[in-house]
Formats: sequence, C-alpha cells, structure tokens
Amino acid sequence: MKKELESLRDSDLYPFHMPGHKRNPDAGAMAGYMDIDITEIDDYDNLHDAEGIILEAEKRAERLYGAKETHFLVNGSTAGILSAVSAAVSDGGKLLAGRNSHKALYHAAYLRQLELKYLKPGKIEPGNYGILWGKIDPGEVEESLNIDRDIEAVFITSPTYDGISSDIRAIAEICHNHNVILIVDAAHGAHFGLYKGLPENAVREGADIVIHSVHKTLASMTQTALIHVQGKLVNRERLRRYLRIYQSSSPSYVLMSSIDSCIRDIESRGDEIFSRLIGFKDKILKETKDCKKLFIPGKDIVSDPCKVLVCAKDGAITGQQIYDILRLDYKLQPEMAGDFYSLMIITGYDTDEGIDRLIAAIKDLDQKLIKKADDRNEPKKASGNSYGGAGDYPKALFPIYKAWDAESELMDISAAGGRISGEFINLYPPGIPLIAPGEIFTKELIADIGKYINAKMNVQGAFITENGERKVSVLKSAD
Ligand SMILES: Cc1ncc(COP(=O)(O)O)c(C=O)c1O
Repeated sequence: MKKELESLRDSDLYPFHMPGHKRNPDAGAMAGYMDIDITEIDDYDNLHDAEGIILEAEKRAERLYGAKETHFLVNGSTAGILSAVSAAVSDGGKLLAGRNSHKALYHAAYLRQLELKYLKPGKIEPGNYGILWGKIDPGEVEESLNIDRDIEAVFITSPTYDGISSDIRAIAEICHNHNVILIVDAAHGAHFGLYKGLPENAVREGADIVIHSVHKTLASMTQTALIHVQGKLVNRERLRRYLRIYQSSSPSYVLMSSIDSCIRDIESRGDEIFSRLIGFKDKILKETKDCKKLFIPGKDIVSDPCKVLVCAKDGAITGQQIYDILRLDYKLQPEMAGDFYSLMIITGYDTDEGIDRLIAAIKDLDQKLIKKADDRNEPKKASGNSYGGAGDYPKALFPIYKAWDAESELMDISAAGGRISGEFINLYPPGIPLIAPGEIFTKELIADIGKYINAKMNVQGAFITENGERKVSVLKSAD
C-alpha cells in the first residue's frame, strides 16, 4: 500500500478533501509524517468495504497467517475484541472467559449486557519466587461447557502479557465438539507461527477468531492490529458489521499501510528477523543464568521469546524497584512492572547493542543485590503475586452491565470489605481487572491494592484524594 500512497504523493493530484493538512509540508511540525496520509478517495479503497488496495493487503496478511478472512484494525486489538465478542454472542448471552482477560473483553460484556462465566487460569510459580497467571486448562473448558449448555463462545488470552501460552488446539477441539465459538486474544502473539522456532499460531491451531496486535511484537505502528476468522461457526457478515461500528469511519491510511509494510517485511525477511529474536532470547538466558538474586524464566514457562521477565529471587527487591532501577540507572525502559518482576519486551528489531546493555544491566544489578544482601545478611522470601489476581478472583453479585450503571459512591478503601464495587480496578499495564463492577471487595484484595499503591504502581480505578486518602467506588447500599 505504501508504494501506491507514495505515487499519489508524487503525482499532481491536488487534495480538495480531508485530512485538513492537505499533505502540505508547511502544515506544521508533524507535516513530514503526513505526506501519505489520505482519506477514502477514488482508487484508494475503503477499509469498511475493501475491494482494492486494502483488500489486496488484507489478503497478503490472510495468507501469511493461513486464515480464511483477515481484516485490518486501526483501533487496536481492542476494536477486534469488541467486534469478535459482539459477533459471537447474542445480546444478553453467555460467554466463558479467562478471568485474566484484558479490559476490552469486560467492556464488550458491558456493551452487550453479557453474562460472564469465568475460567480460572492455573498458577505458575517460576522458581517459587512469585505467582504468574498460567495456562487455561482444557479440562476446565470441557467441564464448563458440559455444565452450562447456554455458553455461546469461549474467550482465551494466549499468549498472555507474560508470554505464557495455553493449548489452543485442545481447547478448539473441545469448543467445536460443543458447537461453541473459540475467540483467542493473541494480541501479544502476532509473531507466533511465522518461523520454525516460534510457538504455533492460534489460527493454525483451529481457533475461530484470532486477534493480533501487530504493533506489539512486530514492526507496525501503534494502534494497528489484525482480526482473523475461519470455520463455519462465526457469522462473518455480523463480524464485519461490528467492525464497521467499532472502528473509525476515517481509518488512517498511514496506519493501514504500516500494517502492510510490516507483513511484507515478514514475508521477505521474516526468517532473519525471527532468528535474531530467538538468538537474543537465548543469549539473555545464557548470560544471566548464574545470577543469584535475579532470575529469568526459560522456555519451559515463558514460551514467547519476546518476553523477558526479570524476576526477583528472594524478595530483596520488588518488580517496581527493578523497573525503576532499569529505567533510571541503566536507561532501559521496561514494558511493565509486576510485583516481583519487571517485563522487558524484545523483538527481532532490537539492536545487538540494546540487548547487550540489557544483559549487562541485569548482571550488574544482580551483583549490587548480592552485595546488599551480604551487608544485611538476611535473605527474605518473596511474596510476589502477579497483578494481585493470580490466585482467586472476587465473587460477583451483579453482572457488569448492571453494576457499572448503578448508583455508586466513593468510600475509604480500608472500609470497603464486603461492599460491591462500582468500578473496574486494574493495574495498567496489563489492564486485567483486579475487581470488576458488581464484584465484592475482599480483605485480601484490599491489601493487594494498598500494596500496589504503596509500590507506586499505576492502579487505575482507585482514587487518591489531595489529602492522600484512598477511595474506591462502591454501589450505594439500599438503606
Ligand atoms: C492481552 C491483551 N489484549 C488486548 C489488548 C489491547 O490491545 P490494543 O492495545 O492493540 O488495543 C492488550 C493491550 O495491552 C492486551 O495486553
């Protein structure tokens, strides 16, 4: 697509149309980025009814992933999740979803007034130093579908933010035996299946709808993503309708051509890019394996080579501290802090120098932690717990769509035990709710939220007043 847009730029066709910058190099500081930014004009196709250059580009992505139908997304995987869930489940219907789903899933449930049934991901304890959300057990999917015959679709996140994958092939088979649609949020797995050393892709593993954020682990611009559909269970016209509803009516050509350039790059030199990625991950694991205070889980736990979890071994340091130190002292910006680890994303587009800096920083920090522990002479045991939710999740008294619209009030978090939440509270990233509207605050959750606020993590949905009071939204009681 970029070639066509560049030839338009170089032609003498004058733009009496949107966007307002008119591809004019004097249109402001960002003008240099706008010379291929157009709207739906003759010969340049329309994302919402693609039949020309956009369809051609979508077909290229379709072939790469082996899907039956692929659409470009310019509003991120978020728009893909909203559309997939809306198309797969009838209004007011039932959806079985991993409790570790991204907030877009919960927003879809709100918009479509769905009843959510949850799958509880297993716990993974890398080296017993803390807990991560793990895999979805296919047996639990089977059991839930056997018990509840009204479930219309299953929603699984694989790989997770932390790079843990579930057995999609087995789950797809179970869903299809029950005639139920399987949606896989593979926002973090756009690179899966594209090279022999990478885990398999959910499309090829048989999921009915798969969503990929090409901006997360491939070289496409922020906000770009793909939705793939296959099989007979999904009503594709209904899916296209929801894509038209949830996506902008003025999709950016810069974003769309960036998806196409990304797909073409993988087609032409994917092997080189991905063998670099795998080489980087192997090197990081090898060179840091003797660290005493820090620990990076290997492939047996984190199947995704893009995810490097720098974990604290014995609680001498929190995930947020690792994050801050890497950022401030070593000038390495992490992706996220969990409570006992900091997540670094690597790709085949990293530089050798960047990877070497990361390895050197991990080893150096490890030495400092050893020295500090020697000085203190008292190793502590970690009580890590990824996103606070990797154990139990709160019990729901009301569905999200009722509770989010009900009358609520702010109250001090310390007194909120037993009260029903009026809001989502989550760490961002990863955007997985610790509690959703309609669920009951427990003492354990309140303690976890307090711990996150103390650790200066980004807790969305809890409010801190000017006086430092910590408030949460709860439903007004009847009296
Ligand atoms: C698991 C998961 N799904 C979906 C999304 C939403 O993706 P996007 O930012 O492309 O809208 C995210 C974002 O971080 C995510 O982590």
